[in-house]
Amino acid sequence: MLRYIKNRSVALLACGTVFLFSFLLSCSALKVETYYEYGIVATASPLATDIGVEILKQGGNAFDAAVAVGFVLAVVHPEAGNIGGGGFALLRDGETKEVMSLDFRETAPNAATERMYLDNDSNVIADLSTVGAKAVGVPGTVAGMYALWEKKGSMDWFELVSIAAKLADSGFVVDAYLESSFREQRAKLSQFETTAEIFYPNNQTIKESNLFVQNKLAKALYLIAAEGEDSFYDGEIADSIVATMVAQNGLITKEDLQSYAPVWREPLHVKFDSLDIYSMAPPSSGGIVIGQILKLIEPFDFSRYNPNSAEYINIFSEASKLAFADRSKHLGDPSFYNVPVERLLDDNYLDNRRELIEIGKANESDAILPGGMLQTESDQTTHFSIADKEGNLVSITYTLNAPYGSKLVVNGFGFLLNNEMDDFSIKAGVQNLYGLIGGEANKIESNKRMLSSMSPTIVLKDNEPLLVLGSPGGSKIITVVAQAIVSITRFHLNLKEASELGRFHHQWVPDVLYLEKDRFSQEIQNKLQSYGYQLKEREAYSDIQMIYINPSHFKTGMSDPRGRGTTAGY
Ligand code: GLY
Repeated sequence: MLRYIKNRSVALLACGTVFLFSFLLSCSALKVETYYEYGIVATASPLATDIGVEILKQGGNAFDAAVAVGFVLAVVHPEAGNIGGGGFALLRDGETKEVMSLDFRETAPNAATERMYLDNDSNVIADLSTVGAKAVGVPGTVAGMYALWEKKGSMDWFELVSIAAKLADSGFVVDAYLESSFREQRAKLSQFETTAEIFYPNNQTIKESNLFVQNKLAKALYLIAAEGEDSFYDGEIADSIVATMVAQNGLITKEDLQSYAPVWREPLHVKFDSLDIYSMAPPSSGGIVIGQILKLIEPFDFSRYNPNSAEYINIFSEASKLAFADRSKHLGDPSFYNVPVERLLDDNYLDNRRELIEIGKANESDAILPGGMLQTESDQTTHFSIADKEGNLVSITYTLNAPYGSKLVVNGFGFLLNNEMDDFSIKAGVQNLYGLIGGEANKIESNKRMLSSMSPTIVLKDNEPLLVLGSPGGSKIITVVAQAIVSITRFHLNLKEASELGRFHHQWVPDVLYLEKDRFSQEIQNKLQSYGYQLKEREAYSDIQMIYINPSHFKTGMSDPRGRGTTAGY
């Protein structure tokens, strides 16, 4: 096992002339990073990270590690890790150099209708799209993991999936973070007796350092390990999902499950400076919105500004507003709505849009696109990034939507079902769970995929891997990922500096510039206000998981300091 400590910056030269003690001190304050020669894994959970690294060490490739990690997160990160949800994967094959994307987003059940969350007077029925069986989209995660493994995996499926099954069976030690999450969610999760039995055994909140055992989930995972995706979409688990739906007035039928299929899609590709950015195409809005933001800011000379200077925040936020305005109107499931992808990323179109960006001025959102609409998504999602020694890269973001999804578990199998139906616009012009509104492109239709912001991303430089990254954070995923790319490639920050940098977010509607709490000086805030921004502080958000690969193919990574995740390699 070789572990290389390298210094990407010029720290050694800079420190060379100073006294040894101050040399060591300044180097630790500088960007000394751990680089790994072979493989690296960054996830939101230390247990999942270690298991991913173990798979790579055993000779598995990044795709094998991703399958193991995907199922393990369903056990150890239950608020977002899942088998009852869905997501997206961006992949790069080290041998063919091809970048691919896999869409395993949930779909609306066949019986879903545009007005399904409205009463006879067209009022939205409270909680129907967010809690319980009617909120659930047909899950895609198991089919997604299976498709990934079938196409790219090298290890035995049973071996990969049964790791999670064993962990669910024997239990794992709850940390402080999970204890507080269980505590916080108790009232919501206790709405369903079957859910409360799992998360609050003997009516108790599981405390830090105690074991969390999930025997029913283990049963489901063993079945998936032994029988593959069929157990979930056609077999015993499918029958239990349908029985749960019948008991709880849900819409998902056996036919819905049998006909669910993940989709291999062309990734969304844009050029930014000399870099190739690959991210998720619709039904995620992530790739297009990130692409628009980066292309809109590209001509500005950032060497004149510091990271998070008022001028940079101003340029980036105006670009975000323009891109989010387009998102609201033009983005939805491409099988149901003609998404004008090329037009939205067209140079002439963006040149015209860029004319609205003026340093020192915040455009009013209404002036950008009057009467537009917007939908956003919840914060509770999770991302993992993996790179192996063959140059294979995996960037996966998947979710249950809200924390613990619909709060409903499948009878007998104890796994949580998503509440992804709320990512549709449930009624034009009416706020959804997260306070925002949606439009025609994203209206509910049978078998349609709801619009997402998930943005698993891969960045190449000279056709070689440079960055693998992604984050949770609902609509903020987009600005978190785009800001990380700019921080690293334009401001030349290392991963630690980039992830510690305060985050800001503007999504056009509401016309508010959100600033991460305690990270922006009064001077910057005053300047932004003088430009015309309405500012609001918000608590730390997102949980970015990043890998950086240098030209010699050594890899370093960073799990967001705001989260409990870890990065490890060998
Ligand atoms: N449910 C979060 C998203 O898909 O963006």
